[in-house]
Amino acid sequence: MAKSTAEYICQQCGSSHPKWSGKCLDCGAWNSLVEEHDQSVPKGVKGANKASSIEFVGLDGPNQEQLRKKTTISELDRVTGGGLVPGSVVLVGGDPGIGKSTLLLQAIAGLSKNYKCAYISGEEGVDQVRLRAKRLHVENQPVELATETNIKSIIKSLNGPTPPEIVVIDSIQTMYLDDLDSSPGSVSQVRTCSQELIRLAKKKNIVMILVGHVTKEGAIAGPRVLEHMVDTVLYFEGDRGHQFRILRSVKNRFGPTDEIGVFEMTSLGLQEVSNPSAIFLENRHEDINGSAVFAGIEGTRPVLVEIQSLVAPSPFASPRRNVIGWDSGRLAMIIAVLESRCGMSFAGKDVYLNIAGGLRISEPAADLAVAAALLSSLTAQPIPAQAVLFGEIGLSGEIRSVSQPSLRLKEAEKLGFSQAYIPKLSGKESKGMKSKIEVKEVKTLIDLIHELGIPKLTKTTEAEHAII
Ligand code: TYD
Ligand code: MG
Repeated sequence: MAKSTAEYICQQCGSSHPKWSGKCLDCGAWNSLVEEHDQSVPKGVKGANKASSIEFVGLDGPNQEQLRKKTTISELDRVTGGGLVPGSVVLVGGDPGIGKSTLLLQAIAGLSKNYKCAYISGEEGVDQVRLRAKRLHVENQPVELATETNIKSIIKSLNGPTPPEIVVIDSIQTMYLDDLDSSPGSVSQVRTCSQELIRLAKKKNIVMILVGHVTKEGAIAGPRVLEHMVDTVLYFEGDRGHQFRILRSVKNRFGPTDEIGVFEMTSLGLQEVSNPSAIFLENRHEDINGSAVFAGIEGTRPVLVEIQSLVAPSPFASPRRNVIGWDSGRLAMIIAVLESRCGMSFAGKDVYLNIAGGLRISEPAADLAVAAALLSSLTAQPIPAQAVLFGEIGLSGEIRSVSQPSLRLKEAEKLGFSQAYIPKLSGKESKGMKSKIEVKEVKTLIDLIHELGIPKLTKTTEAEHAII
């Protein structure tokens, strides 16, 4: 029998110590030693010749693509990388009330046409789910519905000889294992219940879709415990005041992670939006100062969005900088570059920046459109309504090139735009460009200011321009 010995392992550097101490003597980390029992294995692993040997295979094999289960919702298929992979565990996170249950009920109803599907709700009763199904016109689909929160009962029911191929658990925070003292929703309950479900999914080759509510800090059930355990993490986001919802993949072992799916919440549930640009620009007022159109790329798809800014005199000693849908640190950087490289002053002014339609943008390519919107609002000079912008801004005020300019221009052309302010194209890029759009290449922010005809350039910045 192997002898069990206690030792103290530093969780920072992994070194082992025979005694506990407050500080690791190897790496100097404080309070990092944790007692672990080592089942020390005697020299020469006994019984190795009894174990079965593993079978090696080549990297190339049967095509995984054929195994994927299509959901009949093409935006969802896009985000998952082409459908759900058998045996995988998908976590769908989002604020309460954003529409996770609605989306998954619609998805599972579509899937049930071809696969055996089950929907297990721990939040709503059977009648409530049925009512919702009726509202979504999916009540006749062969989905197996249950309401249960005891994880042991769920595992037992799914462990039979013909388990469902796809199971939705709504939500993981309501599930509990009665062996644990803590209440449902606590980190230990969520972690243990998920572990059990993941093990079952792998064993039975079930697609397990877990719904997780996002806590106020933005993490799913505590310190992102679940994100590490599952194969795919999708966030369903959006503003409850807007009808648009964005499904975004933040982790995907079987597909891309920067893809988004766009939906619209209607009285008949979630409708797919296959042309998001047209929707995001729908309510745009042309010839208003502070508005610029950014030609962005979300995953593989070009998306045009309106960037709005308002620069207003501040009544406060330290002016406000408010951002919705973009990175506030990046806004501060652009304001600093505009101030120090272009002589534009935002001192004593509140700055508000908003991405219209409730979209969140993370691309640095939006810098140029943000700068244009800020300049436009500051000087009360509208940006031409038929112009799109994209380009990354560097700290010296230079405009850097971004990926896929021709795809962005093509989308702008499709939507009727006729002008574009973009970074200088490389020889190869401009050769392949077949756009009817009038393209204005800008090398620096000062170039942009000249091109847009924005007044108030100081002499010093003209001089700096010569240096750049
Ligand atoms: P729900 O899917 O219950 O959210 P979650 O599971 O993320 O908590 O969505 C609830 C919201 O969606 C609710 O405010 C009502 C709205 N809704 C519609 O607008 N149309 C519909 O057809 C449905 C079913 C819900
Ligand atoms: Mg719900």
